[in-house]
Amino acid sequence: MGRFAYVNGRFVPYGQAVVHIEDRGYQLADAVYEVWSLFDGKLADAEGHFLRLERSLSELRIAMPMSRRALTLVLREAIRRNRVKDGLLYLQVSRGVAPREHVFPSGETPPSLVITVKSLDRAAVEAKAAKGVHVVTTPENRWGRCDIKSVGLLPNVLAKQKAKEAGAAEAWFVDDLGFVTEGASSSAWIVDAEGRLRTRDTNANILRGVTRNTLLQVIADEGLEVDERPFTPAEATAAREAFITGAGTLVLPVISVDGRKVGDGAPGPLATKLRRLYIERARAGRSDQRARLRTCRNLA
Ligand SMILES: Cc1ncc(COP(=O)(O)O)c(C=O)c1O
Repeated sequence: MGRFAYVNGRFVPYGQAVVHIEDRGYQLADAVYEVWSLFDGKLADAEGHFLRLERSLSELRIAMPMSRRALTLVLREAIRRNRVKDGLLYLQVSRGVAPREHVFPSGETPPSLVITVKSLDRAAVEAKAAKGVHVVTTPENRWGRCDIKSVGLLPNVLAKQKAKEAGAAEAWFVDDLGFVTEGASSSAWIVDAEGRLRTRDTNANILRGVTRNTLLQVIADEGLEVDERPFTPAEATAAREAFITGAGTLVLPVISVDGRKVGDGAPGPLATKLRRLYIERARAGRSDQRARLRTCRNLA
């Protein structure tokens, strides 16, 4: 059974999926993307990712390539054709194909749409989560609109490579005031020395994580509170626990920052519990009204 990609209106074998050399996503990073995790063949946090996609596009004045309803059908078909149960769905929309010029092409240029789906080995992923991951820090050097999920990811690419070369799975950006903003592809959290959950507030120059948002709801349902206040790397290593969240990582315990242990150097109990609760909720396909409202507020 082969893999199929969706490219501008057609499903094509993965190995033959190509875009034009003058696609503005390719030449100018004039494109946005979204990533959904898939549980039992269903999109987790479907609504939150759709809302953010629509917002990213509207901030850049790129048209939705089709209605949300039609897009939902295409995503479902992409999952079905690839026979993926547990995995990730990647979607990218660019401003389309036009002779290379910085200014927008004419209004007739349709946006390009590419979708790929891949399977994940959940057992391997869970084994990684049970061990926890290492994080390194790196100076914040991204543009001022990290709330837009743009494919312009060069600083994130370099940060991730730095992490990999240090034996870590993620890099946390640290701003000029010494506070962690977020990970190169995840939101950053700690359970501080007083036992309070902390994560950066979304007025900062960060991506408004959809997983973060759902987790806020999970946490509220558990009767716990979150302090949306920035923390330093030193606070992270003095913390009881640390973890990252994202569609790719879900809730992933962090066991060291820049080579210094967090807590006792093992995944923390709260992070482990929140991971379980998040996955249970995603498997149950729950994206209730309150989470939706919170997402709308968050993205406004
Ligand atoms: C920079 C950055 N922050 C945070 C996240 C987490 O966002 P989400 O939970 O919506 O996947 C991502 C995910 O790719 C990211 O790239």
